[in-house]
Amino acid sequence: MAILIGENNVFLLNTKNGSYSFCVDQEGLLRHLYWGSRIDAIEDFKNEPFVWEQGFHSIYDVKREECSSFGTMRFKETSFKVAYADGTRDFRYRYVKHTIENDELTVLLEDTAFPLQMYLHYKVHEDVDIIEKRRTVKNCGNEVVSVERLHSGECSLPGAGWNLKNFNGMWNSDFDAYEQKIMGGKTVLESLRGATGHVANPSFILYQNAGETYGEVYYGALAWSGNFKIVLEQTPYAYLNILAGINDTDFEWRLTAGATLETPALYLGYSPDGFDRMSNAMAEFSRRYVMPQPMADQPLSVLYNSWEATYFDVNEQAQLQLIEKAAQIGVELFVMDDGWFGQRHNDHAGLGDWHVNAAKFPNGLAPLTQKLQSYGMQFGLWIEPEMVNRDSDLYRAHPDWIYHYASRPVMEGRYQYMLDLTRRDVQQYLIGEIDRLLTENDISYIKWDMNRGMSEVASALLDRSESKSIWYRHTKAFYHIIQSLKALHPKVEWEACASGGGRVDYGAMHYFDEFWPSDNTDPLDRLSIQEGYSYLYPIKYMRAWVTDSGSNGKRAMPLLFRLHGSMCGALGIGLNLNERTEEEMELLKKYVSLYKEIRPMIQFGQLHRLASLPVDGVQAVQYENGKESVLFAFLDHPSRWRTVFSVRPRGLDAKTCYRVEIEGQLQQKYSGAFLMNSGLPISLNHDYASCMVRLLPES
Ligand code: GLA
Repeated sequence: MAILIGENNVFLLNTKNGSYSFCVDQEGLLRHLYWGSRIDAIEDFKNEPFVWEQGFHSIYDVKREECSSFGTMRFKETSFKVAYADGTRDFRYRYVKHTIENDELTVLLEDTAFPLQMYLHYKVHEDVDIIEKRRTVKNCGNEVVSVERLHSGECSLPGAGWNLKNFNGMWNSDFDAYEQKIMGGKTVLESLRGATGHVANPSFILYQNAGETYGEVYYGALAWSGNFKIVLEQTPYAYLNILAGINDTDFEWRLTAGATLETPALYLGYSPDGFDRMSNAMAEFSRRYVMPQPMADQPLSVLYNSWEATYFDVNEQAQLQLIEKAAQIGVELFVMDDGWFGQRHNDHAGLGDWHVNAAKFPNGLAPLTQKLQSYGMQFGLWIEPEMVNRDSDLYRAHPDWIYHYASRPVMEGRYQYMLDLTRRDVQQYLIGEIDRLLTENDISYIKWDMNRGMSEVASALLDRSESKSIWYRHTKAFYHIIQSLKALHPKVEWEACASGGGRVDYGAMHYFDEFWPSDNTDPLDRLSIQEGYSYLYPIKYMRAWVTDSGSNGKRAMPLLFRLHGSMCGALGIGLNLNERTEEEMELLKKYVSLYKEIRPMIQFGQLHRLASLPVDGVQAVQYENGKESVLFAFLDHPSRWRTVFSVRPRGLDAKTCYRVEIEGQLQQKYSGAFLMNSGLPISLNHDYASCMVRLLPES
């Protein structure tokens, strides 16, 4: 049983490896009791009155809570802040009742003086060690109630000295993983851009003493693609309080009579033995419970993307040439990136005008889609729906359709403004235009980009009293638009991109079929970007292109190194194929075909990070399906004569004998026990050396 309830008002939520427990205490408040390794004996959780010498301390700060509210002698960060019409600005609740339905426990709390209800939802995903938390607030009275902060969930860990792992990135430097010890006070991870952004990811990984294969790891991820805030507060009372939800900066939601406000979900996970299990549990959770159908169970195709090959310089002839070359190497989906619409000759113009540029494509897109059809390939397009350039027909016709203050000039980001998605007419325009594109053309895939943050966040139509709700409304409208388009075109595949990995989050994952994790396609940088990404996000969603090197300011690296790096994710090709030699085309063809063979193992298998360049002097990552494995190893340059490395694969069968094939050539045979314990020797002896190793069980 996943949800247990004791006679003494104790709730125990059990997953395969973990338990989470809280109780209703003597005051009728929810007190957090436990989060960690699985405990089945609910009777061990005693729910004795919480005793603390009052005096100089506030008991609410001392207590670990499930739902703390601003005011009421709470001085720590709280998860809920409300203002009633009469000026009262605290929520004093009591537990009322609970219900259980489909592995979801819902606990109802009610204010003791005002008709305001709070529902705490706990959905238990037992098989993948995830507890999903959400909250709903309901105004049961007649007067408007202002919600000024509403986190999705609150939880805590005992003691101090917790380590946090997160990512501090920027454009072209996504998923820059770091670790820090949390000291006294608050550590805040947040976005104020109106979207997820690169600066922090809406997730956290906490541990005391853990590595890839050992140690307890506590983690969480928020299903939200807008402004978020995760507060980790080390209290002086020997616990770390954890709150995560939509950001309360410049946020206010006016809850009218009878209305409800629901938070995004917060997914909480526990791994008893390290980051490896955490990553694989999250990948499994994503596939079973988050990724949209029908793509969730289908492997992603090998894609070609034109961006780095042509930038804005797209036209019928050049794209047809690329299609032909892409077909030769086995590409399955051809994507034309930016530059095909309106007067989009550079990034100063055209956004908003989603019709094919007639000078570049005098015959529309049909010559491309027909050619692709003849090769049995699919076609995709790049769009950036939330945006408009000043130099566009759309802006000239509707200058009011952007977020703006009447009193000030609007700031530009990448020479573009942000459309006011809170407006119905804007939503309808976007749905209509994209629907038309998808209906008129044979399009199987859309890359949805988002390249600036929100500023001057005001709408010409929304009442001033609602302005602080715009951040939230924007994200909801973004979800609404893509959801409507998916309903109209259920077979289309959608990729989320925001200047690279600025929209990699579990909110977007509910609507998109893949992520573009970074605009940085330098193969060496990419190794650490992909490693960072892989901690909490599934490999299947990790698009990875092989691009040109040695030009456009990029380091020159062997094609094989670039191929191996991209084969570690959902393989894409972004090369200018018109400039490739015959030899290179042959190599591409060979590896695209090889990738198709191992693709199910990479996109759906277990992932093991075996070695990391900065720590181990070599990078190695393994994918396995319980039977066979494929492993990629990379070296930047040999140093101090070190050219042989030993890596220890995981998940093999100790007794089975494995054929070790490097680049398709049989090298040795070893038992699983030898490989897992003594290790697999790998020789990498020149700059940017890499190899692909397959471990195939002898039948
Ligand atoms: C962003 C994306 C790139 C590319 C360009 C096009 O930077 O991240 O992949 O699509 O926009 O302008």
